[in-house]
Amino acid sequence: MSIQTAMSAVTQTGAPGSNKDRVFIFDTTLRDGEQSPGATMTFEEKLEVADLLDAMGVDIIEAGFPIASDGDFEAVQAIAKRIKRATVAGLARAINADIDRCGEAVRHAARSRIHTFVSTSPIHLNHQMRKSEEEVLAIIASTVARARNLVEDVEWSAMDATRTPIDYLCRCVDAAIKAGATTINLPDTVGYALPEEYASMFRTVRERVANSDKAIFSVHCHNDLGLAVANTLAGLSGGARQIECTINGIGERAGNAALEEVVMALRTRADILPFMNNVDSSMLLRASKLVSAASSFPVQYNKAIVGRNAFAHESGIHQDGMLKNAQTYEIMTPESVGVFKTSLVMGKHSGRAAFRSKLRDLGYKLGDNALEDAFKRFKDLADRKKHVYDEDIEALVDDQIGQAGERIKVEALTVIAGTMGPQTATLTLSVDGAQSTKQTTGNGPIDAIFNAIKAIVPHGAILELYHVEAVTEGTDAQAEVSVRLHEDGRSVTGKCADPDTMVASARAYVAALDKLLAKRLKGASAAAG
Ligand code: KIV
Ligand code: ZN
Repeated sequence: MSIQTAMSAVTQTGAPGSNKDRVFIFDTTLRDGEQSPGATMTFEEKLEVADLLDAMGVDIIEAGFPIASDGDFEAVQAIAKRIKRATVAGLARAINADIDRCGEAVRHAARSRIHTFVSTSPIHLNHQMRKSEEEVLAIIASTVARARNLVEDVEWSAMDATRTPIDYLCRCVDAAIKAGATTINLPDTVGYALPEEYASMFRTVRERVANSDKAIFSVHCHNDLGLAVANTLAGLSGGARQIECTINGIGERAGNAALEEVVMALRTRADILPFMNNVDSSMLLRASKLVSAASSFPVQYNKAIVGRNAFAHESGIHQDGMLKNAQTYEIMTPESVGVFKTSLVMGKHSGRAAFRSKLRDLGYKLGDNALEDAFKRFKDLADRKKHVYDEDIEALVDDQIGQAGERIKVEALTVIAGTMGPQTATLTLSVDGAQSTKQTTGNGPIDAIFNAIKAIVPHGAILELYHVEAVTEGTDAQAEVSVRLHEDGRSVTGKCADPDTMVASARAYVAALDKLLAKRLKGASAAAG
């Protein structure tokens, strides 16, 4: 049975013994998410995210945009080779070279998909593509057919579908299905639609297009008006059965619909949303932390489902209710999304076994080497800090994940700050194993440190963001520093937590610079052929 036949069979009948329709979860964290400014991930980080998505039960992983760069191609290809359960998709414009490159990247997957798209709205056709409606229809037919020659499973997207006149949208969908598309995605590319409009667009297209039952319809919503999740759920009521979303809602501009919000809405309101999916919701927090660490995108405190405050109760009335019965103020349990509170207090006397068990409770599964490394860092932190909170341990492990594969390391730092001036930093970095020390001054200690980094590793990157926040309370709290650098049209972010703000700042800057170096090297080796 082909993938599509299998999917259709499930969609029409739901799970055996269930009256619920199966909804397919398509995660695009590694494509639409990674595309957002500052969210760039390294090759290793992408593999780690893909593995977690697969383990979590996501149905389709959009692993990247293979024609975009050699790095993207290599990541999609490596993910295609290692993922056992999920379908691995790559994105391709409606251009033959894109489709062929994408086909090559996903070729080795156990289940592979080419996702090709073209704009359909008048504003895109007239101003961006400068093509007529008839020309675009011909492009859809030929590019979908080309993709279908390479793989059985082809998704076609009508970019800016929600600003496309419905008659023309129906003709495009008809052409795509006739050419062999097995999934039809109607994105709200600019986050413009309202829920009822979005639902109605799906209803109309499915009613009017003759062979609409031959394809699965998909939602893909951007969050420009804060309606991405609401529109996603509305799309289901219009007949869509695939949801495109990202962990933490990262993505172009205001982002995409957040996977964790969609999954928990489906689960919590199953009374009126009769759909089933395979995502193990107890892995949501872990996925959120991993993506936040890998993309260096912080999760806002009040973010639904995975924010630090999502299950915190501050007001007296709420706390009183919670003590009497958690359901008074909680519509889902913290455990259902992977928040586990334990009574294990960590400090400098805690041993390896307690540390391992704490990590497990916090949702981390580290290999032996990574665990040993984390344990050493934990001991070092516990020597300097009286109480080591869960948040401290999370910050420590997230840093480690974010800095895997680093080429530049902070070996030593001394800073002179205060009213006397000039503020001075003496910094030793090792770059690819070779140590170098510089002393520089600056307009404040942080400026002096960043000048020292520039003196050792000359670069033209612009500092776009410098952000410090305390991981916990108290004067000995760790400072979590984010640094975003911009070079050649790309932004990268580095993060680090340490009780010493100066050290955290130096390490965060170096982590960002490391990502830029990795990119430069990839660019150079691609140019060399
Ligand atoms: O938002 C969008 O339209 C997209 C397409 C490429 C599917 O991301
Ligand atoms: Zn998008």
